[in-house]
Amino acid sequence: MGFPQIRLRRLRSNPALRSMVRETVLRPCDFIMPLFVCSGRAVETPIESMPGISRMSVDRCVEECRRIGKLGVNAVLLFGIPDTKDETGECGADDHGIVQQAVRAIKKALPDLLVITDVCNCGYTTHGHCGIVINGRIDNDRTLEVLALQAISHARAGCDMVAPSDMMDGRVGAIRRALDAAGFIDLPVMSYAAKYASAFYGPFREAADCAPRFGDRRTYQMDMTNSDEALREVALDLEEGADIVMVKPALAYLDIIHRVKTTFNVPVAAYNVSGEYAMVKAAAQKGWVRDDCIIMEILTSIKRAGASMIITYHAKEAASILREAYSR
Ligand code: PBG
Repeated sequence: MGFPQIRLRRLRSNPALRSMVRETVLRPCDFIMPLFVCSGRAVETPIESMPGISRMSVDRCVEECRRIGKLGVNAVLLFGIPDTKDETGECGADDHGIVQQAVRAIKKALPDLLVITDVCNCGYTTHGHCGIVINGRIDNDRTLEVLALQAISHARAGCDMVAPSDMMDGRVGAIRRALDAAGFIDLPVMSYAAKYASAFYGPFREAADCAPRFGDRRTYQMDMTNSDEALREVALDLEEGADIVMVKPALAYLDIIHRVKTTFNVPVAAYNVSGEYAMVKAAAQKGWVRDDCIIMEILTSIKRAGASMIITYHAKEAASILREAYSR
C-alpha cells in the first residue's frame, strides 16, 4: 500500500499527535555537565570562548552543582586546573589536589549527585601532553602508572566514576586493575574510547590550560578519517573492563556513535565538546540562529544516533528548556 491510502502527514497534524509518536525524547538526566575547578574562594572566571561557562573555585562549584541538581541533571564531570604543574603529571594524584578537594566538597554537600572525574595528565604536565614525555616522545607504558595513581586518588576522594581521556593504549586495564587492587571494585570506568584528534577542542584548551606546548596529539588521539578503528578501540576498552564507552567529539562523529551502539549494545556516552558549544553560542550572539532551538536539535541528534548520555556544556540550559516545555 502507498499513497493515497498512506499519508505520513496524518500523524504530524497537531502537537498532541506529534508528541505521541516521538521516537527520541531528551531528559535532564541524560546530561552530564562538565565543570572546571580552580583554587581560591569565590572565584568565577568566565571563559571567553565559551560564553556562560566559567572556571570556578570549589565553593562556587558546590553552588553550581546545587543549581544543576535542582534542574534534574544528575551528573557532573570535573576537570582540575592546578596552581602548579610538573614534568610527569604526578601532581594530579595528590590527595589534596584541586579535583580531590572538589570531589569531597561536592559529595559532602550533595551526596546524590554523580561526580565523575576526568583522568588525564595534560592538565597537570608542564608540556601539556596527555602522557609522560621522554626524548620528545610520549611514553605509553610509563604514563599508565601515573594515570592509575590519579584514578585511585580520585576514588579515595569519593568520586562515583572515573573517565580516562588520555588515549594511551592499555589504560583502561591498568586503571581497572589498580582500582580493584585498592578495593574500589564497584567504581565504574567511563572510557573516552573513540576520542579523535580534533580542532573542536580549541576552547577547552583555553579553559583548562592544557594545550600542548610542542607538537600535537595525533600520535595518541584518533585520526578523524577512521571508523573501523573506533570499533577496535571500543572493543579493547570493553575487554579491559570499561563500563561505559565514549565517542568524542559528538556532532561531526554521529556515524561513529551509531556504529558503536549498534555493534556493541553497551551504554555509549557522547561528548558534545567545547568547539561545538562555542559555534552555537557565537552564531546566537550574532542573532543568526536561535540557540534554544539549535541546542535541542543538536542534543536530540546525538541521542537519536545512539548515545545513552551526553556530556554537554548546554546541560543546564537544555534542562531548563525541557522544564519549560513540560510545564506549558
Ligand atoms: C584532556 C581533554 C580534552 C577534552 C576533554 N579532556 C582536550 C584534549 O584532548 O585536547 C576536550 C573537551 C572539550 O573540548 O570540550 N585530555
